Amino acid sequence: MGQTRHGMAMVGGAAGSFIGPVHQLGAKLGAQVDLVAGVFSADRDRSLAAAVSYGVAAERCYPDTATMFAAEAARDDGIDILAIATPNHLHLPVAIEAITAGVHIISDKPATATLAEAEILREALAAGRSRYALTYTYSGYPMVREARARVAAGAIGTVRKIVVTYAQGWLARPLEASGNARAAWRTDPARSGPGGCSADIGVHAFHLAEYVTGLRVAAMLPDARPLVPGRTLDDDCNALLHLENGAGGVLISSQVAFGERNALSFQLYGDGGALHWTIDAPDRLRLVRGDGSVALLLPTSPDLLVRGRFAPTLGQGIIMPFAEIYRDFVDAIDGDGGRIDGVLPGIEAGLRGVRFFESIATGTGWIDLL
Ligand SMILES: NC(=O)c1ccc[n+]([C@@H]2O[C@H](COP(=O)([O-])OP(=O)(O)OC[C@H]3O[C@@H](n4cnc5c(N)ncnc54)[C@H](O)[C@@H]3O)[C@@H](O)[C@H]2O)c1
Repeated sequence: MGQTRHGMAMVGGAAGSFIGPVHQLGAKLGAQVDLVAGVFSADRDRSLAAAVSYGVAAERCYPDTATMFAAEAARDDGIDILAIATPNHLHLPVAIEAITAGVHIISDKPATATLAEAEILREALAAGRSRYALTYTYSGYPMVREARARVAAGAIGTVRKIVVTYAQGWLARPLEASGNARAAWRTDPARSGPGGCSADIGVHAFHLAEYVTGLRVAAMLPDARPLVPGRTLDDDCNALLHLENGAGGVLISSQVAFGERNALSFQLYGDGGALHWTIDAPDRLRLVRGDGSVALLLPTSPDLLVRGRFAPTLGQGIIMPFAEIYRDFVDAIDGDGGRIDGVLPGIEAGLRGVRFFESIATGTGWIDLL
């Protein structure tokens, strides 16, 4: 593993973008993969400025993706990985171009803007030779992976209930009306798809619920609405969940939770124990055992089932989980493809997420998700 030399391009990620630099840093830190090419913005000057900031040569900053794939294919040192960091509506067309070019894809979530698009993507991936993974950030935290492994090992018995909460407050005001580009596309159905908060952060909570329990959500009763006047997409999204083993769940996500920055947590209860995790202390996993005793699992605990591959206690900001995800992705490209849609989210996890938010937008009452 790790013998092949990889070069990465990115679409999206110009100055001011949130996630582009995280991809660059995660790729470098996690897998020694360099960002060497890209179309960082639809605006040529902004794209060129981004290339400078990323250390990408001007001749490899392309005016559009078609030019990029053609030029890179003609180079001996051309890219073999594409990171997708654009608003949601571009995820599918860019991924299809990458598949046609035989380039591996690491895409930001959601997989696509709509379910029909996600199904097209799954088919195209099955017919092509590109590996595909999704940066569901929170699946890259070692203690989240530990939780998943503990559940799978029976540490809390049969899962009975999960409560997952993801609250932000930055869209409590209509920032989209005052020129905030990030808020503008997230509140625009043409660029976000049919989900607002549900597609932006609800989908992370939904993925986390399935990821740590190892169970699919069989049905949900959602309540998602725009609460800030003038919006058409939900900015607050909650749901009762039934997991496929009969367990219950509550998913709370909101972007109008005034004062919250990125408040993500889960409490998971089995018939023989419980697990608690919060992003406020992401290096800690609280395990309540069947006898009522409590263990605080840390990266330095001797008996972990899963060990992060980067220095424990280095801090677990958003870059570190990206580094884990990129390391897994490059391992998958270099031969360990079984990680995808196992520990590393792939198109199947992507489809589940898109189904989650599109069902909310189109369904009523209890919605079947199997
Ligand atoms: N994994 C996570 O934790 C996480 C966090 C934030 C965002 N995201 C996802 O990442 C994606 C981007 O979100 P963001 O917050 O960085 O958005 P953003 O608005 O901050 O940045 C989007 C970037 O895409 C560029 N772009 C737009 N149209 C383009 C085009 N046609 N060609 C090339 N570039 C183009 C913009 O110039 C901008 O640089 C979204 O799909 C979002 O859901 C994921």
